[in-house]
Amino acid sequence: MKILVVGGAGYIGSHFVLEASRAGHNVVVFDDLSSGFKNNIDTEIDFFEGSTLSNKNLSEVMSSSSFDVAVYLAAYKAAGESMSDPVKYASNNIIGGLNFLKACVEYSVKKVIFSSSAAVYGNPLYSPIDELHSLSPINFYGYTKKVIEENLKWYSNLKNIRYASLRYFNAAGYDSDKKSLNKENNPQNLIPLVMEVAEGSRELLQVYGNDYSTLDGTGVRDYIHVTDLAQGHLASIDYLFQNDNNLTINLGTGRGHSVFEIIKMTEAISNRKINFKVSKRRAGDPDVVIASSEKAKQLINWSPSNSDLSNIIDSTWEIYNR
Ligand SMILES: NC(=O)c1ccc[n+]([C@@H]2O[C@H](COP(=O)([O-])OP(=O)(O)OC[C@H]3O[C@@H](n4cnc5c(N)ncnc54)[C@H](O)[C@@H]3O)[C@@H](O)[C@H]2O)c1
Repeated sequence: MKILVVGGAGYIGSHFVLEASRAGHNVVVFDDLSSGFKNNIDTEIDFFEGSTLSNKNLSEVMSSSSFDVAVYLAAYKAAGESMSDPVKYASNNIIGGLNFLKACVEYSVKKVIFSSSAAVYGNPLYSPIDELHSLSPINFYGYTKKVIEENLKWYSNLKNIRYASLRYFNAAGYDSDKKSLNKENNPQNLIPLVMEVAEGSRELLQVYGNDYSTLDGTGVRDYIHVTDLAQGHLASIDYLFQNDNNLTINLGTGRGHSVFEIIKMTEAISNRKINFKVSKRRAGDPDVVIASSEKAKQLINWSPSNSDLSNIIDSTWEIYNR
């Protein structure tokens, strides 16, 4: 299959490109390298440098081939920054997303895989969160994802596009063959910050709150290995070609790990001490965010096989300890 991967030089995108190539697909990457790296992509893969904010760039790549499916990962992803600079997120994630959809219509790309997020749900009203949970994002980033999901629905009705909205939980880990070269660019999420303390480039980790209703008092999140995410994309592509249906699913493990568990596992694997300081909770941080992955299991026959915490931490430490 000929697959266009928009945002394919980034952390998750490059892992998808690896898995898609291993599965024998013909992949083309389009990326503006704002946070991705060209050397995340094998030199044999066709690469177009360009932005979804340029209709000209999109036309160039879309007209270069006839694509069976486009995977759209390009977006900014820092929830905190989206609250201080919503215009930046509206522009890149919403306008860029609508430009991408326009190009799909113009160039007859009928199948789209969209990187959505658990952030569309907002504060969990129950746990694990299934796909029927209400969509009430509590940050602008989550809102941008909801807007693209809604547009996909309309484009499906009006323009006959079939899509999969994949709501990722916390992406983590690295390819087991160490094919991925780069750390995430300017990460804001827990595991890379813990790694930075372990490698010595960060003095200490701020732990925001130890009075949550969890076993050890720290926040619990669902960490999904990027290779499992990538395989979930491939299974979703198969689904779109086998069914005349759209797909909206969570990609998570159904299990959660606390901040202290991540710290302990990193200490055990890296053999380094993780210095941390407990400070106050951050506004809007829920106690526990865990996915129900039952729908993905049923519809695309997907379940994560790489997402044990030890494997996630081990494969990440391999990259930070190079
Ligand atoms: N990392 C996570 O835990 C997580 C969780 C849920 C959803 N997501 C979503 O998954 C997608 C990929 O995330 P990631 O963690 O790989 O982030 P990333 O920043 O590593 O990857 C994004 C890629 O898109 C590119 N890009 C950004 N804006 C672009 C534009 N306008 N035109 C062309 N390329 C552009 C970047 O250069 C980068 O290579 C994002 O849409 C993100 O919102 C990520």
